[in-house]
This record gives sequence, C-alpha cells and structure tokens, in this order.
Amino acid sequence: MGFMEDRFKDFILPGSEEEKLLHQIDFSRLPVHIAIIMDGNGRWAEKRNLPRIEGHKAGSKAVREAVEACARLGIKYLTLYAFSKENWRRPASEVAMLWELLYDYLRKEDKELIKNKIRLKVIGDREGVPPKVRGELERVEELTRDFDSMVVLLALNYGGRTEIVEAVKKIIKESKLKPEEIDEAVFSRYLYTAGIPDPDLLIRTSGEMRVSNFLLWQIAYAEIWITPDFWPDFTRRHLLQALVDYQKRQRRFGAIPQSSL
Ligand code: IPE
Ligand code: IPE
Ligand code: MG
Repeated sequence: MGFMEDRFKDFILPGSEEEKLLHQIDFSRLPVHIAIIMDGNGRWAEKRNLPRIEGHKAGSKAVREAVEACARLGIKYLTLYAFSKENWRRPASEVAMLWELLYDYLRKEDKELIKNKIRLKVIGDREGVPPKVRGELERVEELTRDFDSMVVLLALNYGGRTEIVEAVKKIIKESKLKPEEIDEAVFSRYLYTAGIPDPDLLIRTSGEMRVSNFLLWQIAYAEIWITPDFWPDFTRRHLLQALVDYQKRQRRFGAIPQSSL
C-alpha cells in the first residue's frame, strides 16, 4: 500500500478509523504550529466519581499521546496550555497536586523527549512557578535545547494579557525603540513566543467555546477546532480529525477567495 510509512507503523492500525483519516491528510499543508487548551480533566473525573486529581493524572497520559502523535505527523510546534495565571484561584490542594504531577511528568518524560529529539520550552511567568518545578523545567529545557525535530511549548503560569503587558515593559526598559519603530513584527519579538510562528490551529477540549486568556496576540488568525470530549479522552484520532477539518477550511486572512477575484 506504500502510504503507511514506517513512522506510522505500530501507531496507526491498518483498517482503522485513524488510517482512514490519515489517508485524507495532505502532508504538504500541515499546520506548522498547533496550540491546545487541554480542558475537562475535572469533569472527566467527576463523571467517574473520582477525585479531580485522577482527571489530571489521566490528562497527563493524554499529553504523552498528543506529543507523540504530533511528532510522528511532523508538526513543528505544539503549545500546550497546562496552567494558567487564573488557575491559582483553585483550592490550594488541587494547585499543589497539579504542580506535583507536572514535576513527575518532567522527571519521567525527559528520556522520551531526548529519544525523539524534541525541544521543550516553557512560556509564562517563570518567577511564579514553584522553585522545585522550575528547577526541573530548566533542567529539561537545557537538556533539549539543541533539538529541532519538534518544539513543545509548555504554557505554565501563563496569561495572555500578562504576556502582552510584559512585552510592553521590556520594550520600555530594554529597547531604545522609538514609537514609530514599533510595528507588529517588532512587538512580537518581545513576547514569550519570540521567533515562533503563530498557531495555525487552536484545539480546545470539553466543548467550552472560549480562549481563557491563551495566546491572545498569537491566535489572531488561528483556525479553531473544538471537541466536546474531555482532555483525558483525547487521542490521536481527535488530532487526525482536527487536521482533516483544518484542511477543509479556507483561510482568508481578511481577503476574499482567489476564485472570487
Ligand atoms: C484542565 O482541566 C486542566 C487545567 C486547567 C489545569 P480542568 O481542571 O479545567 O477540568 P474542568 O474544566 O474543571 O473539567
Ligand atoms: C484553561 O482552562 C486553562 C488550561 C487549560 C490550563 P480553565 O479550565 O482554567 O478555563 P476556564 O476557567 O474554563 O475558562
Ligand atoms: Mg477547565
């Protein structure tokens, strides 16, 4: 059949729904950057009469699946919203457990990242990340800094508005730019995502139709794909479906389609 390249063997079963989706994908038009709002861990757990933390644990397995699926498909940048600035409003016990899970994830996943030549980069307000986790993040960032097969951006203690305000502060404090020298391209170099192309595709799980302070500047023209399924149930199939749907969209960026000219 030829199409099932090596990189998809043992990942996509022949004859499966996933294989059908894979066949529909045009690999020359993949999104370069996918951003995901991983939502619904708590509801996933509640539905099963489990404590919320069990949902977060199951969610971290889904992270593994999403990273692997994106790497196999050849996605260059994957940004995962893992902890927002506003998530500090949750009970201290849940917050503590979330950071603990993240710490465990980093302790265990470093080998996998190295094996697959994936670079990890954190975006967000680092100063506010608990020191133990921050140390671990910096260790893994350092270990993977020269890899370029894919970049995983972990949004931690992240807020889109904070990011924009911080960019303004940096411009005022560190640059000698005159107002007329500041344009959109210059401004974006002062964001956490400096040098990284804007997301083409924004995925959100658990059916919520909002952006929750995520990448406000960068998603200006992202295509949005939302599934009602909770994050712990997110699989390669969802990702493939999102790609198929994305490729059916017509991105106009404010212009009118070529065919109407
Ligand atoms: C997403 O799941 C994980 C984080 C925000 C850290 P939630 O914890 O928000 O789950 P729901 O939305 O309450 O179900
Ligand atoms: C967004 O989910 C933040 C993350 C996924 C880390 P939330 O569950 O915090 O968002 P809201 O409160 O439903 O908007
Ligand atoms: Mg939520």
